[in-house]
Amino acid sequence: MEITKDIRYVGVDDHQVDLFEGQYVVPLGMAYNSYVILDEKVAVMDTVEAHFTHEWLDNITNVLDGRMPDYLVVQHMEPDHSSNINAFMKTFPQAQIVSSVKAFAMMKQFYGNDFEDRRVVVKEGDQLVLGSHVLNFVAAPMVHWPEVIVTYDSTDKVLFSADGFGKFGANDVEDPEGWDCEARRYYFGIVGKYGVQVQNLLKKAAGLDIRTICPLHGPVLSGDLSHYLKQYDTWSSYAAEDEGIFIAYTSVYGNTKKAVEKLAELLKAKGCPKVSVADLARDDMPEAVEDAFRYNKLVLASTTYNADVFPFMRTFIEHLTERAYQNRTVAFVENGSWAPMAAKVMKGLFEGSKNLTFAENVVHIKSALDEKSEAELEALADELCAGYEALAKPVKETDMKALFNIGYGLYVVTTNDGKKDNGLIVNTVSQIADNPTRIAVGINKANYSHHIVQQTGKLNVNCLSVEAPFSVFKQYGFQSGRTADKFAGMEVTRSENGLIVLPRYINAYMSLKVEKYLDMESHGYFICSIEEAKVISKAETMTYTYYQKNVKPKPQTEGKKGYVCKICGYIYEGDVLPDDFICPLCKHGAADFEPIK
Ligand code: FEO
Repeated sequence: MEITKDIRYVGVDDHQVDLFEGQYVVPLGMAYNSYVILDEKVAVMDTVEAHFTHEWLDNITNVLDGRMPDYLVVQHMEPDHSSNINAFMKTFPQAQIVSSVKAFAMMKQFYGNDFEDRRVVVKEGDQLVLGSHVLNFVAAPMVHWPEVIVTYDSTDKVLFSADGFGKFGANDVEDPEGWDCEARRYYFGIVGKYGVQVQNLLKKAAGLDIRTICPLHGPVLSGDLSHYLKQYDTWSSYAAEDEGIFIAYTSVYGNTKKAVEKLAELLKAKGCPKVSVADLARDDMPEAVEDAFRYNKLVLASTTYNADVFPFMRTFIEHLTERAYQNRTVAFVENGSWAPMAAKVMKGLFEGSKNLTFAENVVHIKSALDEKSEAELEALADELCAGYEALAKPVKETDMKALFNIGYGLYVVTTNDGKKDNGLIVNTVSQIADNPTRIAVGINKANYSHHIVQQTGKLNVNCLSVEAPFSVFKQYGFQSGRTADKFAGMEVTRSENGLIVLPRYINAYMSLKVEKYLDMESHGYFICSIEEAKVISKAETMTYTYYQKNVKPKPQTEGKKGYVCKICGYIYEGDVLPDDFICPLCKHGAADFEPIK
């Protein structure tokens, strides 16, 4: 097969392999690709699996038409590509091996020979000139072993990508599902752990003009390559490819399975765009791993077994965590007849994982579904589908809770009315212009600080860090500076403008001068220039979300009926919260209260 005028395919198809790499079923077989570049010098790119020595050597000699190869380029030493190195070197005694230093060490380990007097050692940036073709070598460690190099032929603009962009399936059968499905299962099975290294390779590839990709498995890719590159970028950055929910379950007597089927129905009914289900004991495990990475939400349903989870579930979760599973929402359904443990164990297995969100609702089944566990399934389905229902609704809606999803930082604005210092917590500070830089600070007109800034035209913004405790919010947020002296007895430092800079719990401050004022009804906006700005620490900025999650004390709502203030946790006990109610602690209005559930 001709790839370009000078590049030929000489690989083989394997329909005998029972398990590729000892663990992957390959119903469409497997291809071990190899290529010949014909120029003044002839290079062969990689060998093939051990069972195909003569078929491969025949393919080479047919293409060479009486010529002899000068080089064997070994990009990857895994035996599916390197098993015929000795056979090649014996057949073509004048040829040299071109490979990385690590590959030669492995050659000695695998095949007892590192060809000391017949080798060319190459590294990142090295070139091999074949005549008009120039091979440029790019180090690609851990894609998929440490010795891997990939090769860019800058003449024909071909990237020989080693295992990268590979796919399960022989090349002599058409894959009815196209490239993506088996390429994805291959990627997450074989290279999935090494997302960072694949990202590094993609960055290097972005600087090359690539027209054709010649991988070591699967079809040669040509034409518009953007789809393949985009898929690899998505997979290796651990981003979800599709919006949807994958449910992986184990079930001994069918009761957990029934719950999963019920949940799948609920999810579909509530607008989830794609629901996929796998029985981990019976379905293909690598396919389940692939689906877990494909979708953005995962439900794990397992029976409790030996005070643990069912073994297939443990194995599945370990497959995910060892591949750095992240950036997903994970929910749990457990079944247990006397001491249910599965949910706790499953969550525990993700202990070392990062960037996972665990669903609040956990479904607890005691042997079989009952009214209580069915209600829990419904609640979990509601939680997982909340966004889908909102997006599917055709009517225009204004849900003010959407405002909480704007990312806010939290700040202490310090001022001085001429007699005493004042401080106020705000979440309304933004840089709104560059050149000249302008900072907007919004302050509720009911606050004394608004009055002071209007009078004086200056203020300091102290950027709170995540180290700030709740007492800081009480000190500056829950009392008025008109009646309280918020800095009484405190040792303070001041910036050039004479205003206080908080001595602790901030990561930066800015001294601002008011240039413009915007009246926004409830709030006044001060548009300011910067007179002084300093970074104090590397601690992260306190956000409203962080405050809600980690700083604000959890209100003791158990056994109480009524409403709780989302700002400070104050509890209003009563059936109806008056519209004009003001929180006695933090002075926020009824809009900042929510019913106790
Ligand atoms: Fe296709 Fe990593 O070997």
